[in-house]
Amino acid sequence: MTGILDGKVALVTGAGGGIGKAIVVAMARAGASVVINDIGVSLSGEGGSASPAEEVKAEIEGFGGKAVISTDSVSDWDAARRMVALAGDRFGRLDIVVNNAGILRDAMFHKMTPEQWLAVVGVHLNGSFFVSRAAAELFREQESGSFVHMVSTSGLIGNLGQANYSAAKMALVGLSKSIALDMARYNVRSNCIAPFAWGRMTGNIPAETPDQIARVENLKKMTPEKNAPLAVFLGSDAAKDVTGQIFSVRMNEIFLLSQSRPVRSVHTGGDWTPETIRDRAMPALASSFFALDRSQDVFTWDPC
Ligand SMILES: NC(=O)c1ccc[n+]([C@@H]2O[C@H](COP(=O)([O-])OP(=O)(O)OC[C@H]3O[C@@H](n4cnc5c(N)ncnc54)[C@H](O)[C@@H]3O)[C@@H](O)[C@H]2O)c1
Repeated sequence: MTGILDGKVALVTGAGGGIGKAIVVAMARAGASVVINDIGVSLSGEGGSASPAEEVKAEIEGFGGKAVISTDSVSDWDAARRMVALAGDRFGRLDIVVNNAGILRDAMFHKMTPEQWLAVVGVHLNGSFFVSRAAAELFREQESGSFVHMVSTSGLIGNLGQANYSAAKMALVGLSKSIALDMARYNVRSNCIAPFAWGRMTGNIPAETPDQIARVENLKKMTPEKNAPLAVFLGSDAAKDVTGQIFSVRMNEIFLLSQSRPVRSVHTGGDWTPETIRDRAMPALASSFFALDRSQDVFTWDPC
């Protein structure tokens, strides 16, 4: 049986559980040799264990796949270089990097501590830069490669109490576009996926009334595995013309998300003053203002 990723080598960060595990298993099933990176921490980034990655490795080897474990943290430059080197040492090349590792340290902005900020930015943004930058050297030599960055509608749209996470994910969107632009000359592609999955990052939705219980039962069908086929496709040669895009997956829906473009403009023959901006520019622009939306205000229908 041939797979869409036959002969390819993939590195998936945070692949010991959740969405990362679903992606690394799907990539191995599609024929890729894989590096399972995970430090096995709690949702807030505490603790650390190699056993989640070991379980994933056993599962992949169980169906005849090839896998190696990296227990290095993405949030360290040298460690990120080691995990990329591991792919080269063990499998001779690297074709796909999925920046998926993540933690949450939620707090309302006015109460957020520097530690909460730095921890989240360190994993999501710095980690994605470190791993991508290390892989970029191999991709450049090979003149091929695919980056997939897991982002979030918490940043793209908005969410309460996640300033650190939203900022890091939006910065990652900018990083992805920059990589796509800078490395197009080497046939390197870079895309984002904003996933939705029932898991430890989402498992605190109240389920008390019969309606809420039914809703949560439906949401539980939104498994991490639903996000994997798009990531596998983006890593494959079939996606050779797909770069610089932001996708979202929600159960059985796949979305192409918009990117910032001017929506409306006003012009003056002379110079603007604060007063003419007040009297003419803002009233004209205001009808196109965006509401202070959160993700659930935009995705108003339940997934099915
Ligand atoms: N679950 C969702 O609905 C959802 C929604 C939007 C975005 N995301 C994003 O998708 C990705 C995966 O989310 P998930 O729900 O599967 O989360 P998860 O908590 O189940 O998995 C994250 C994994 O990352 C690992 N990790 C944390 N810090 C690490 C580090 N420094 N180095 C290496 N590994 C590290 C953890 O050990 C864990 O196994 C994250 O980037 C998350 O922000 C998830």
